[in-house]
Amino acid sequence: MYEAIQIVHSYWAYLVVLVVTLATINALIGFFTKREYAPKDFRVSLFALIVTHLQLLIGIIIFFVSPTIMWFTDGVSVSDIMGDPLLRLYNVEHPTVMILTVVFITVGYSKHKKKLTSTPKLKMLAIFYTIAWLLMLSRIPWANWF
Ligand code: HEM
Repeated sequence: MYEAIQIVHSYWAYLVVLVVTLATINALIGFFTKREYAPKDFRVSLFALIVTHLQLLIGIIIFFVSPTIMWFTDGVSVSDIMGDPLLRLYNVEHPTVMILTVVFITVGYSKHKKKLTSTPKLKMLAIFYTIAWLLMLSRIPWANWF
């Protein structure tokens, strides 16, 4: 059970990183070149929303079954977790920052839909997706992933 979810979370992350990167670059280029909002902008931003939400669900499940999560282990204190950089990353920083990443993607997607003209739409996507992208890249466990 755990192994299967770990593999899914690990491989799905490649898709998440790829799609969020593409959606962010697309929004930034669209905003700075002041071009018209096109169906592909809608599609790529929606795809980023979907893949991140699925990763959020998988992440929540793995949080409760992974042996690297120590919150439910007897004899392990908060200071043990906070005092070890790797334990802190998996137990605190990665889950918190990834949830924030999904929040920024969701808010950006929803705000861009409410705007009626091209530049404000692309501006919302550019701002919120760039913040989400930077947050996501900052807390991926790179050393243990590749
Ligand atoms: C944008 C969302 C996310 C991305 C891109 C992402 C990416 C990753 C990556 C690349 C790994 C390392 C996999 C490996 O070592 O093979 C990982 C591990 C992990 N993630 Fe996420 N994650 C996301 C969201 C979440 C969330 C929301 C949670 C929990 C609420 C979570 C909990 C975990 C846990 C517990 C591990 C360690 C699993 C283990 O090796 O036992 N992730 N994640």
